[in-house]
Amino acid sequence: MSDSDRHRDAPRWYQHGKFFFGWLRNPRRVGAVFPSSPSVGKLLVTGVRPGSRVIELGGGTGTVTQAILEAGVSPKDLVVLEKDQGFAKFLRRRFPDVNVVNADAVNLDQYADALSGPVDFVISGLPLLLFSNDEKKRLLDNVFKVLAPTGRFQQFSYVARCAVSTTLLRALSARATLIGVAPFNVPPAFVFRVRRSAAERRGQSLLRRTLRSLGRAKRSA
Ligand SMILES: C[S@@+](CC[C@H](N)C(=O)[O-])C[C@H]1O[C@@H](n2cnc3c(N)ncnc32)[C@H](O)[C@@H]1O
Repeated sequence: MSDSDRHRDAPRWYQHGKFFFGWLRNPRRVGAVFPSSPSVGKLLVTGVRPGSRVIELGGGTGTVTQAILEAGVSPKDLVVLEKDQGFAKFLRRRFPDVNVVNADAVNLDQYADALSGPVDFVISGLPLLLFSNDEKKRLLDNVFKVLAPTGRFQQFSYVARCAVSTTLLRALSARATLIGVAPFNVPPAFVFRVRRSAAERRGQSLLRRTLRSLGRAKRSA
């Protein structure tokens, strides 16, 4: 069995062990002692289908990455950003066809070009409640910079409220909806979807269309 086969088929206990050592390396950044359960992964990929272009933030040991691929997303349509070098290495071995980048998720706009078009979903396993307000604002600004007008940001939280504050949601003209609860995750997890309001989405589409036709006009001049 090759190294990558061993990692792709890694049993849950092995992933738990890897994850626990990752937590020991940096408890604040990892934010949980156990990896997400498959039920959190399933909720986080709500709406994702074959052909969706996805950026995953904070891949850890890959439970959510696996759920994204099982939803039918092609590895070429997925970019995973993971800040911890050990987890990034593990993910690359487990999913050799996926573009795993060892980078800060806050800078996701720098990696969106690796996908062949606008991003349909940003799926986050980040411990967002531990981020400063400034980090959260920069992250969310960049999320909505890369998302298609109808795109969605999906994030879990260990408390029954969205990890993006109401003030920040208002500033982004976005709203959060609870998709579901995974009661048997440790600790129980609440999964939220954040989308821009319909008016904001219409404005964004218009802007994109205008920029595209300006580009076409410039090229044909
Ligand atoms: C709660 S864990 C979720 C892991 C994953 N869902 C799993 O089940 O293995 C949070 C993950 O986010 C990563 N992380 C934290 N801050 C990050 C950042 N700024 N950029 C990228 N990854 C980050 C951590 O290293 C960790 O892998």
